[in-house]
Amino acid sequence: MNSQQLRALLHSMSLKEKVFQLVQIPGQYFRAGVTDTGTAAEDVLSEEELTLVGSTLGVFGAESTESIQRIHMTRHPHGIPLLFMHDVIHGLRTAFPMPLALGASFSPSLVERCSAAAAEESAASGLHVTFAPMLDLVRDARWGRVMESFGEDPFLNGKLGCASIKGFRGGNGDAPLPGRVASCVKHFAAYGAAEAGRDYSGANISRRQLQEAYLPAYRKGVEAGADLVMTSFNTVEGIPVTGNKEMIKSTLRDKWGFHGVLISDWNAIGEMVAHGVCADQRQAAKLAMDCGIDIDMCSLAYARHLEALVSDGEIREEQVDAAVLRVLELKNCLGLFNDPFRYASPERENRSILSETHRALAREAVSESAVLLKNAGEKPLLPLSPDVNAVWIGPFVESRELHSAWAVSADPSDTVSVREAAEDVARAEGRLFSYVEGCPMTCREDLGPLSEENNVLRFREDNPPLLSPEAVEEPLIREAASAAGRADVVIACLGEHRLMSGEGASRGDLSLPAPQLALLRELYRTNRNIVSVIFTGRPLDLRDVCALSRSVLLVWMPGTEGGSGVLDLLTGHAEPGGRLSMSMPYSVGQVPIYYNHPSTGRPKPADTKVPRYISSYIDIPNSPLFPFGYGLGYTSFTLSEQSIETNEASLQTDGTLKPVRVSVTVKNTGSRRGKSVLQLYVRRPSDGAAAPVMELKAFQKIAFDPGEKREISFLIGYDELSHFGTDGNPSVEKGEYRIAIGLDSEVGSWLSLTIT
Ligand code: BGC
Repeated sequence: MNSQQLRALLHSMSLKEKVFQLVQIPGQYFRAGVTDTGTAAEDVLSEEELTLVGSTLGVFGAESTESIQRIHMTRHPHGIPLLFMHDVIHGLRTAFPMPLALGASFSPSLVERCSAAAAEESAASGLHVTFAPMLDLVRDARWGRVMESFGEDPFLNGKLGCASIKGFRGGNGDAPLPGRVASCVKHFAAYGAAEAGRDYSGANISRRQLQEAYLPAYRKGVEAGADLVMTSFNTVEGIPVTGNKEMIKSTLRDKWGFHGVLISDWNAIGEMVAHGVCADQRQAAKLAMDCGIDIDMCSLAYARHLEALVSDGEIREEQVDAAVLRVLELKNCLGLFNDPFRYASPERENRSILSETHRALAREAVSESAVLLKNAGEKPLLPLSPDVNAVWIGPFVESRELHSAWAVSADPSDTVSVREAAEDVARAEGRLFSYVEGCPMTCREDLGPLSEENNVLRFREDNPPLLSPEAVEEPLIREAASAAGRADVVIACLGEHRLMSGEGASRGDLSLPAPQLALLRELYRTNRNIVSVIFTGRPLDLRDVCALSRSVLLVWMPGTEGGSGVLDLLTGHAEPGGRLSMSMPYSVGQVPIYYNHPSTGRPKPADTKVPRYISSYIDIPNSPLFPFGYGLGYTSFTLSEQSIETNEASLQTDGTLKPVRVSVTVKNTGSRRGKSVLQLYVRRPSDGAAAPVMELKAFQKIAFDPGEKREISFLIGYDELSHFGTDGNPSVEKGEYRIAIGLDSEVGSWLSLTIT
């Protein structure tokens, strides 16, 4: 339809019909409504209202979406198709490594390819919109949703966010391509700054932090063509973002020019009553509409109150019209008025879901995102030498639950477990495979309320029973320790259960579940050659694991091809390509911890004993256990001859800056081909406030042959030197900038560039 036709359609609709375009309800009600002759949802909406609803979430599968759409089209008075939305966070059926793992890949092209593959499966399943990427900056590993973010760095988040949007949509054009889906950036804004890491609590951050650190990635996402933005549950400066006119209207709409659909998070409109900001749902509906929220996800405040608000003159009908038009435009740009079934088809599903190409990509992504934290000794244990007699121990050897709590459509029965992959390798090499369980994954208590009613799993009716409630099983541990004593090497596959992270899964303790730590300690008594493979949804306190293991490989929640990917890494068929995109804390007492923190007037000297009255702890170090950007490979790299083409550059009168070349010589000093990530950090002069001690401004992932030596350059221009001030405008300060290139955020020497 052209815009005239869309407007004509809008004007032919009654107020009620318009209001219901702005109402989103969960798929199961809708599905029940359809299959059970349209009455099962009557406690939520009347049958008539159900036929008018504009969008639904959580239903997927070509057959289901087609049948719902078919019935909907015949019932809707104007034949307006439904929008199907869903959380496709790291894949639909093929689960790729979780977003924080993909953050560690430092690879925009990998992120784009994974998003594209996820979009293809989704589009074939009848989905139109994915609620991804989540571009919330995360600095606090207690928050369960860190798994869904690309990490703690605004620049990296922005880069990977744009790549993800491009992958989901198939480019940055006006409309998502056929076979791709529309992308929804979330959760605007600062949801990741939940105080004390407790989900849904407020973001108590300064304006400066908001502008400099939290907003840039969402802004990049908008610039990259995100079709929708989702507002968050949390407050910023005490105001729920879903009712925050300044943030939504002035910043997102006016300043950033976002013209797409704005959707609230689940019941975020309704929750403004619990925040005490609105007296009732009616006021909440009014505030959200006044802010310009187009779609009300699941609170029904719009469904119940918008019509009356208009007839009572509290909301202008044009406000409703503007929101409806945006929704109709989204439907139109997805081509739904021409073909309401769009790309959905069982044949396409068969072709794309879990296709060989998607599985191969998922497997590649495991090695690109795994971080080798430790590989000690003159002869490191990894990669495993082919003739080593290894015993596989731990709850993650057999587990197929290798996807995050947010892979709501992934099915564990599709997953390759470590055991399967290791057995394949052993069979191919004509060797025996030896495995002992060792201990249960965790105790039921570790999951807290998640083991009871599980919000995160609301879309899955067929959840396997959670966990055995047993605590530490001593006989199991004893059996494992004795098997360890007979082996050359122990491969301990340990970690957090996938439900220990994700939405509503904040933790106050970041250590491994108790039974697993007990197991590791016992293994250490009988064999010191331990390789720990850690599965987790968040950075953990890995002090004990590192002390008890010679090698530690962090594989996150690696997804459907987790087992094969892990075996590729352990056997050396692939190189651990990940570098931490979130600092690994020394202990929970350090969080929030992030490398780009503001400076202090009393910094801790690097190499002296700490006197008192300096910014430090008396019982733990300031530095994390492993810093941002850190990760080892199976070869080693050295950096030398860092240089800058000039030490002085001038800002032109038109505000531009001629880019300056910064170079470093890189050498692969090991004996095998390997990868690394070169990271360029900048320390800018003050604009009157304390600047972050350093900020990532560029990176390059490199792959070098053994002995290969080359110069690598970066161009540093306005974007790299600018920062956002409290007014949200970018600016470059005059003064001295320090620049360093390193293999992680603990860089050595700094170059100087003065901007005049
Ligand atoms: C989450 C969102 C998600 C939505 C729909 C909410 O609880 O915060 O991230 O997209 O549910 O499932």
